[in-house]
Amino acid sequence: MQYEPSSSLPQPDETSAQHCARVTAHIQAAIVAAGGQISFAQFMHEALYAPGLGYYNAGSIKFGAAGDFTTAPEVSTVFGKVLARQFAEVLEGIENGEILEFGAGSGKLVVDMLKAFEDMDALPAVYNILEVSADLKQRQEALLRAEVPNLVDRVHWLSAMPANFDGVIVANEVLDALPVERFVRRDAGVFQLCVTTDGESFSWSEVPAPERLASSVFEIEAGLGRTLADGFVSEVSLAAPNWVADVGNCLRHGAVFLFDYGVSQREYYATDRSDGWLRCHFRHHAHSDPLIYAGIQDLTAWVDFSAVANAAISSGLDILGYQTQSQFLMGGGLELEMQNFAALPLQQQVALSGQIKTLTLPGEMGENFKCIALGRGDTVTPTAFQFADRTQTL
Ligand SMILES: C[S@@+](CC[C@H](N)C(=O)[O-])C[C@H]1O[C@@H](n2cnc3c(N)ncnc32)[C@H](O)[C@@H]1O
Repeated sequence: MQYEPSSSLPQPDETSAQHCARVTAHIQAAIVAAGGQISFAQFMHEALYAPGLGYYNAGSIKFGAAGDFTTAPEVSTVFGKVLARQFAEVLEGIENGEILEFGAGSGKLVVDMLKAFEDMDALPAVYNILEVSADLKQRQEALLRAEVPNLVDRVHWLSAMPANFDGVIVANEVLDALPVERFVRRDAGVFQLCVTTDGESFSWSEVPAPERLASSVFEIEAGLGRTLADGFVSEVSLAAPNWVADVGNCLRHGAVFLFDYGVSQREYYATDRSDGWLRCHFRHHAHSDPLIYAGIQDLTAWVDFSAVANAAISSGLDILGYQTQSQFLMGGGLELEMQNFAALPLQQQVALSGQIKTLTLPGEMGENFKCIALGRGDTVTPTAFQFADRTQTL
C-alpha cells in the first residue's frame, strides 16, 4: 500500500460517520456478548469482514486515488505485465495449469494479467479468483466485463480452496489483511491485548494470553535466542501460517507467489520495534490507532515472512525464492515494459516513469514489499529469482 504518513486525520463525511456508528455498535454488542472484551484478532475480523458492515464488505471505494490506499496493481499495469511474464514461465511446465488469485481487490490485477497473457499468446484456460468479500467480487466482475469482455468466461470465482490445484497461485496484499493477535510481553508472562468498550469508544485491556498465543510467542523467543523485553508490544499472526498451510495443501503442482509488506522474524521482533507493526489507512493517511474509525478504515499488519516460510516448509512446499518487490520486478523483465518508451507522448513518459519509481524505489514500495515464491513438484524457478534471492535472511 502506498500512503502519506500523517498525524492529523481527515474527518469522515456524514455517510461514513453513520456507517462507522453502525459498525461500532455491532462490535460493542460482540464485546458485551463475550463478557466485556474480545481479542484484537476478533476486533480486526469484525471491523474488516463483518457481513454487510466490515470495511471489505460494505461498498466503500477503498482502492486508488478516491479510496484509502493504493496497491501495486492500482499504481501501474506494469506490475501485472511483469507478473504475467514470470507466471508464464511456470505455467509452461504444467499441463493444463491454471491461475488462482486470492483477494483480487478491484480486479485490476486479473485484468492486467489476462491482457498480458493474451499478448504473449499464453492465456491459461481458467483464471480462478477466491475473494471473501461479496461486494468486491461484484466489482471484479464488472471491471472484467468492461475491460476484457472476450476473456471474462475464463474467470471462475471459487467459494473455497480447490483440491489438487495445478498452476500458479498469487496473492497481493492478502496476508497483511488477515487478522492478527496483539500481545504484550511482561516479566510475569505473555499477555493478550484485547479490546473493550465503555459504550462510547474502544480501548485496550490485558489478560493472560491463551495457550496458543503464549506458545507462539515462546517459539518466537526460542528462534531469536532471547526473551522479549518487559513491556514489548507486538503482533503474531496465527491466521497466516494456517492460511499458508491450506494453500500448500491445495497445491499439487506449481508455484505460489505472495507479495506483501513485511520483514524477517529477526526484524519483526527487533528490540527497537517495541510497538508492533499495525498500520491503519484512511483516505491516504497512515496511522497506528486501529480502535478508531471502525469499518471505515483499513487495518493491516506487516507480515513475518520467516513464519510464512516455516509454515510453507511444514506443508512440504519448497521455497523458490524471497526478495524485494523491486528485485522481483527488475529481475522479472521490467525493462521490457520500457522498450517503447521513446515513442510515447511526453505525458505518458512522465506518468510511466512516476509509476515505476513508486513500484521500485526503496522509500516507496520497492523495499518494504517482498515477494516469496513457494513451489511443489517439478516447478520452474522464474527468472526473477536468478537476479537476487534473500531466502537466507529469513
Ligand atoms: C488489501 S486488499 C488487496 C487487494 C488486491 N490484491 C490488490 O492488490 O489491490 C486485500 C484483499 O484480500 C481479500 N481477502 C482478505 N482475506 C482473504 C482470504 N482469507 N481469502 C481471500 N481473500 C481475502 C480482501 O477482501 C481484499 O480483496
